[in-house]
Amino acid sequence: MSDLNTLEQRALAELTAVADEDALRAWNTRYLGDKGELKQAINNIKNVPADQRRTYGQEVNRVKEALTAAHDSAVAREKEKALERSLATDRLDVTLPGRAVSRGRLHVATQVLREIYAVFADLGFQIYTSREVEDDLHNFEYLNMPPHHPARDMWDTFHTTTRGVLLRTHTSPGQIHVMRQFKPKPIRVILPGMCYRYEAITTRSEIMFHQVEGLAVGKHIRMSDLKGTIVAFARRMFGEQRQVRIRSSYFPFTEPSIEVDMDCIVCSGKGCSLCKRTGWLEIMGAGMVHPAVLKHGGYDPDTFGGFAFGMGPQRITMLKYAIDDIRQFWGNDLRFLQQF
Ligand code: DAH
Repeated sequence: MSDLNTLEQRALAELTAVADEDALRAWNTRYLGDKGELKQAINNIKNVPADQRRTYGQEVNRVKEALTAAHDSAVAREKEKALERSLATDRLDVTLPGRAVSRGRLHVATQVLREIYAVFADLGFQIYTSREVEDDLHNFEYLNMPPHHPARDMWDTFHTTTRGVLLRTHTSPGQIHVMRQFKPKPIRVILPGMCYRYEAITTRSEIMFHQVEGLAVGKHIRMSDLKGTIVAFARRMFGEQRQVRIRSSYFPFTEPSIEVDMDCIVCSGKGCSLCKRTGWLEIMGAGMVHPAVLKHGGYDPDTFGGFAFGMGPQRITMLKYAIDDIRQFWGNDLRFLQQF
């Protein structure tokens, strides 16, 4: 019995000296743990003379409860101390500026497409989108290129395993879709969208890229309408002082066909590295819609006429921002994309 008393006194005295949570844990192991002194005192009961066991048992329980209670309040005390310590040292500065949430943005390709839409919207053009998976008829034949026509070689084509089904190589097949839907009404649309070509990827050419096609069909449409539209576009997009030059060219779906250059946006025609010393930058192909194409679209070429053009917004973006590698567009490098 007196051993129990000494144990209690010693344990309580030690507990008041405990200074931190580590020491408290050690104290707990030493006295209340599975192999602690109190456990030993409990096990000791078998050595106690039978007539004293009952009192001994009661006393052991009392000591256990006393030590457990003392331990619990010591734990609470240490917790309180730890909290005070952290409040004193780990101060929270609510006046610090917050961490900025980075804002999303439109891909540069989308930004430029929208600029182009805005310019043509002001000129009265509607937006019409058509399919990316096309058939041979729309991509070639209705555009005046029968099978075996050598001009098909101008477009390196991704064919599919289904005969006659391919990825469109240009947005021009959309002309046929629009005409068949609108006939015999007049048309003024642009057709933006992704095109695909089976080509080597280089700094200047990608296997996928956007085009914006334009198509106007009506009873009194002439080459001068095409020229006016192109000049208005170039000046709205690149500045009021822009000059435009037209060269004769060849596309199977237009007659006559032209290619359009604009004076260089860097040197204004004097000659620099962007325009390769020529003073001019190519911006689109265009022409007067070929009678055969009008006929395939359901318009009588004796009554109706039309103009069409096709441009590559990625090329135009490269000119506008002096981007020297077309692969940047779909490379998903944030360091590139965040500049726009
Ligand atoms: N489809 C042509 C190409 O991908 C571009 C083009 C040229 C479109 C003349 C036209 C056009 O509508 O009239 O190279």
